[in-house]
This record gives sequence, structure tokens and C-alpha cells, in this order.
Amino acid sequence: MTTNRPKTFSGVKPSGGLHLGNYLGAIKRWVDDQDRYDNVFCIVDLHAITVPQESAALRQQTREVAAFYLAAGLDPSRTTVFVQSHVSAHAELGWILNCVTPMGWLERMTQFKDKAAKEGDNRERISAGLFDYPILMAADILLYDANFVPVGDDQKQHVELTRDIAERVNRLHGGGRDILVVPQPLIADTGARIMGLADPTRKMSKSEDMPGQAIGIFDDPGDIRRAIMRATTDSDRTIAFDPNRPGVNNLLTIYQVLSGRSRDALEGQFAGKGYGDLKKEVATAVLDTLVPIQERCKALLAGPDLDEILRDGADRARQVANRTLDRVATAMGLR
Ligand code: TRP
Repeated sequence: MTTNRPKTFSGVKPSGGLHLGNYLGAIKRWVDDQDRYDNVFCIVDLHAITVPQESAALRQQTREVAAFYLAAGLDPSRTTVFVQSHVSAHAELGWILNCVTPMGWLERMTQFKDKAAKEGDNRERISAGLFDYPILMAADILLYDANFVPVGDDQKQHVELTRDIAERVNRLHGGGRDILVVPQPLIADTGARIMGLADPTRKMSKSEDMPGQAIGIFDDPGDIRRAIMRATTDSDRTIAFDPNRPGVNNLLTIYQVLSGRSRDALEGQFAGKGYGDLKKEVATAVLDTLVPIQERCKALLAGPDLDEILRDGADRARQVANRTLDRVATAMGLR
């Protein structure tokens, strides 16, 4: 499957629970853009184990995320969907890149600093893998010669690190040739940042310990509707896109991404209406999208197709990944 289309690679961790923010900010766009690129999408279980995981839950969530990708519309005949640990080249290139990347570059990663701070900066409680996480992510991306990496803006720094690593490998080991493609982040302007419903000043996140903050992809439809109807707004009355009114802004953003309509059109639609009307419309739009996806997911999780698709995806991924690994290993004297 070689075309002239630009290549994309992206990944999602099978932990933390997929939520509406992941869907609207990332997965929906990958689905919509499927024909513009050659796509590789990966469930990054090796990244998940940088923090402790319960094995049965990890196995289950890995299948759930894969099922969700497919149910949401990723088409395995056009997009390679696979599980990271099924392709050993990720760990191998990860090791090699470890040896090329200065510690100082990793020490600047804000996501690591944030995660470490949550553990009281106690080095006995943080795995070396958590620190090393961005290098494995660089290996993921570089193995597939990705031109673009569609991610949320929280991952931009990691893609920039990936660029730096690729350039360093090319400079130190390319012998005047580029052995790795230097990728670019692809950050959506809308939907990249869906905020929480209870506290709209914080990103929607399942790890946030706040009821109603996130809409889980597999949540019960009744719970989803209730969470939206209870979303925090403000005491203003008008319905308008306004970053200073994060609650209303967020509800409108969700609706905008789901409806594909312009901001002006939406502000027109809700002129003179109340927050209750807006919430009802948003809830209906969310459920109209999620419920059919949930049903397709259930069918995939129960049947044999899913594992077959993942096996086939890993076979295809392995061929590309091993070629890149060989290129780098050869350049470094490992072959
Ligand atoms: N670090 C990403 C996240 O937390 C997941 C990820 C791993 C990823 N490898 C990747 C994203 C490669 C894009 C490309 O969301």
C-alpha cells in the first residue's frame, strides 16, 4: 500500500478511559481525514505500562480502544490499526534512540514534570519508563516515516522532541543522507481541546476525580444526557462563543464539531434561546453519534473479527517498521 499521499501516525493509550474529548479532538478527525493520508494508528500499550496496570484490565482496554477506533469509522482496508507491543521494532528503535538522545532533552518535558509532581516528585514511585516515555513515542512516529502526527496540543512538545531526535540521527549517522523523516505535529484548531463539563476551565479527563467532568465513550446514554444537562455554565444569558465563558464556549464547541456547522450559524440557531435548550441539543447530538458507535463496539468485542484485524494490522505495520529499524541499525553499525 504505497501511495503519494502524506503519511500520518498517531497513537492512543489503552488506559485512562476514552472520553468524548479524545473522540472529538482526535479520533473523529482521523476518521474524517482518512482519504487524505496514508494512516497508521496504534494502541500504545507499552506507553500504558509506564504507570502500573492491572493485566486483565490492560488487555480488556486494549481491545476496547481498538474496537472503538474501528466502530468510529477507521477502515482497516485504508488505515493500519494495530497494537504497539505486537511490533517489536518499537521497543528496539526506542532503545537505540535512548542512546542518541541527551538526558537534558527529556528533563525539559512538561508532561513528565506534571506526572512526577503528582507523585510528590518521589523518584522511588516513578518508573524509568515514565521518564523515557517520549523516546518510545519518537520511535513510534519515526518507524513509519510519518510526515504528520495528529495529536492534541498537550503532545506537541513530544512531537517537537521527535523532530529533534530525527534531525540528530540524520546528522550523526546519516552520512549526508536523511535516514529518518522529520515529522510535523497536526493540531486541530477546533476540538483539540474539549474541556470538562463540571469544571470547564480544565481539560476533559477521565483521571480527574470529579463526577460529571468527562463523558466516557462507553458510558450509559442516560448518564451522558444527565452529565450534559448538569454542565457548569454561568449566570449570563446569551449563547455565544466566548473564551471568557468557558462552560458555554465548551458546549458550543462540542456541538460545532459534531454538527460541522459554522460558529455564526450556531450563534444564530441559539439566539434568544436558553442554556437548557443548548444542553438538550448538545445531548442529542452527542447521543446520536455515540450510541451507534457503542453498538458497533459491542458487536466487535464479542466477535472474532477484531483480533483478526489487529493481527493483520500488526503484520502490515511490522513490514514497514522493520525496514526503518534496519536502516537506522545499519547506519549505526548494528547490522
Ligand atoms: N503520548 C500520546 C498521548 O499520551 C500517545 C502516543 C504514544 C502517541 N505514541 C504516539 C501519539 C505517537 C502520537 C504519536 O496521548
